[in-house]
Amino acid sequence: MSEKFSKIYDLSIKDPEKFWQEAANDIFWFKKPTKILNKSNPPFYKWYEDGVTNTCYNALDFHIDQGKGSKTALIYDSPITGNKSKFTYEELRSKVSKFAGALKDQGVNKGDRVIIYMPMIPEAVVAMLACARIGAIHSVVFGGFASNELASRIDDSKAKLLVTASCGFEPGRTVEYKPLVDEAIKQAQHKISKMILFQRKGHEVKLNAPIEISWDEAQVNAKDTDCVEMNSNEFAYILYTSGTTGTPKGIVRDIGGHIVALKWTMKNIYNIDEDDIWWSASDIGWIVGHSYIVYAPLFKGCTTVLFEGKPVGTPDAGAFWKIISDYKVKSLFTAPTAFRAIKKEDPEGKFFSKYDLTKFESLFLAGERADPDTIKWAENLLKVPVIDHWWQTETSWAISSNCTGIEMMKTKYGSACKAVPGYDVKIIKSDQTLAKPNEMGDIVVKLPLPPGTFPTLWNADQRYKENYMSNYEGYYQTYDAGHIDEDGYIWIMSRTDDIINVAGHRLSTGAIEEVLSEHQSVAECAVLGIADKLKGQLPIGLIVLKAGVDKDNETISKECIQMVRDKIGPVAAFKVAIVIKRLPKTRSGKILRGTIRKIADSVEYKMPPTIDDPAILDEIKEDLIKNNILKSA
Ligand code: COA
Ligand code: AMP
Repeated sequence: MSEKFSKIYDLSIKDPEKFWQEAANDIFWFKKPTKILNKSNPPFYKWYEDGVTNTCYNALDFHIDQGKGSKTALIYDSPITGNKSKFTYEELRSKVSKFAGALKDQGVNKGDRVIIYMPMIPEAVVAMLACARIGAIHSVVFGGFASNELASRIDDSKAKLLVTASCGFEPGRTVEYKPLVDEAIKQAQHKISKMILFQRKGHEVKLNAPIEISWDEAQVNAKDTDCVEMNSNEFAYILYTSGTTGTPKGIVRDIGGHIVALKWTMKNIYNIDEDDIWWSASDIGWIVGHSYIVYAPLFKGCTTVLFEGKPVGTPDAGAFWKIISDYKVKSLFTAPTAFRAIKKEDPEGKFFSKYDLTKFESLFLAGERADPDTIKWAENLLKVPVIDHWWQTETSWAISSNCTGIEMMKTKYGSACKAVPGYDVKIIKSDQTLAKPNEMGDIVVKLPLPPGTFPTLWNADQRYKENYMSNYEGYYQTYDAGHIDEDGYIWIMSRTDDIINVAGHRLSTGAIEEVLSEHQSVAECAVLGIADKLKGQLPIGLIVLKAGVDKDNETISKECIQMVRDKIGPVAAFKVAIVIKRLPKTRSGKILRGTIRKIADSVEYKMPPTIDDPAILDEIKEDLIKNNILKSA
């Protein structure tokens, strides 16, 4: 381990309180914490419990207080609509404090939940920060989720108000939000009391007053509103993520730890200083968007780019290079899929040569495994370090990474580098013992987790404890498997639950199975993530029909695909449902999903000794060949 990094890392593990007390000096507190870590009730640890602060104050007001109000905070660039704008810290605060006033006028108070279901427009960022300003807890829902998913989030969070827009734009189609929201409100048991809708120019929709009001109307009489003082352990937001069942988990973030940790990462992991331009090409509906489009860069006081477009098709495979060049972006953070999409469309990098990227210093990838081919392709093209780092919605910041602001480490292709200060990562084998270097097992993190990670699940302390903290006493179970090599490099190989990663989007195959099971002709089904060159993984469904069904297979398959789109959303990218005769199972009735996946991915597999009828595997192979999933030998 390199000396400078190792000194900092060791301190963070040996004396986390000292380490995180020092980091806490870098943020604004109304009342500085004297108690750094409360360990009295594991696994419920509390960071900075007597500290008083405010997320929005740290994102905006703090920098204005330091005389940096005229500096650009946010650059919005939307190749999909042709709109561009810039907001200084002062301008952004002015919008946020006004909208905070509007929220208050609509009855939103400290602790109330606000759902934000919006496209990638500045108003979405304004809504998030306005919630933080008045101590409301936001829950942003990704626009690619369907009404059903939105309804489950309304019900679980018991939101008071919903903020949305008239539409979003996907290449080739307009996403009409209002009908989706209306349907979600109809489906939800819990009734929200107000909706504020941002009318996009040329796409205005009809609103039903007084429950539904427009963004502009809401602000007519709104007053500028100051930041409220928040206890460090109160919640900043809930972000729902796929769990092992169809019921999403509400990951919560506490306020003080979130600000301290995220601000710390900007310099130490990403080597970003206040005068730098930073771009995270994700969506505010995902954790990467929360942490690295909105919060961390604003806590740091640098400039962040909000991009409403795609790596390809808006208008071409040069879209990323154009943004980097136009705004002199220093570092970009995105998912490997985005680069695979660019590589597929422009393998020789012809678009790249049109732009000046001399200010560009590094590319960070996360959200799914970064395949060495893509990393090497990007390195060759960009001539800058390409850094794969690993993290989760649960943690909100990287568990392992090359900490480029501390010391640049060498790349090992296929590894997400070393544990970041704060995380004591271990591998536990199936016999519950700690693994030696290079031995595979479950990846766990020794408790307590560092600040900024999830202190619990929304209204579900028991689920938090049982799901994450019980299988390995004293450790957080990441549900990723892999190994750590002799140099301390972490290799993330697979998930150990039913989560799959589709284009960097986290999905539960269990949730898709739940939808398929609702089809009246389906007796049983299995959904698996199979390897895909572009999106990393793609879900496919295998369905067994009830006896006596007389509909043809093609119709049933189409209906199943539509049901997943309607109930989960287009983001599930569920396009293949194959009717098969029977599913391979163990004698005790467990579906052999792992074996089917290996067959679909053409990976060698051993005949499971407990299989009830080995001939089924040949049948499945034939079905996969017939459906072009598998090539015939
Ligand atoms: N609102 C509504 N629908 C959305 C959406 C949103 N915000 N985002 C995606 N969708 C839809 C897409 O339009 C597509 O619908 P379709 O089936 O009608 O074509 C579907 O969801 C699947 O989207 P996606 O998986 O993004 O595939 P794609 O083929 O549209 O684009 C990429 C492929 C690689 C260009 C795209 O996945 C991408 O930009 N990935 C970057 C990774 C990323 O941002 N990850 C976030 C976590 S870091
Ligand atoms: P999410 O919560 O949506 O960020 O998804 C988290 C999951 O994505 C992790 O548990 C991993 O399975 C996967 N993941 C994230 N980053 C990486 C990475 N760098 N390498 C491999 N898998 C990753």
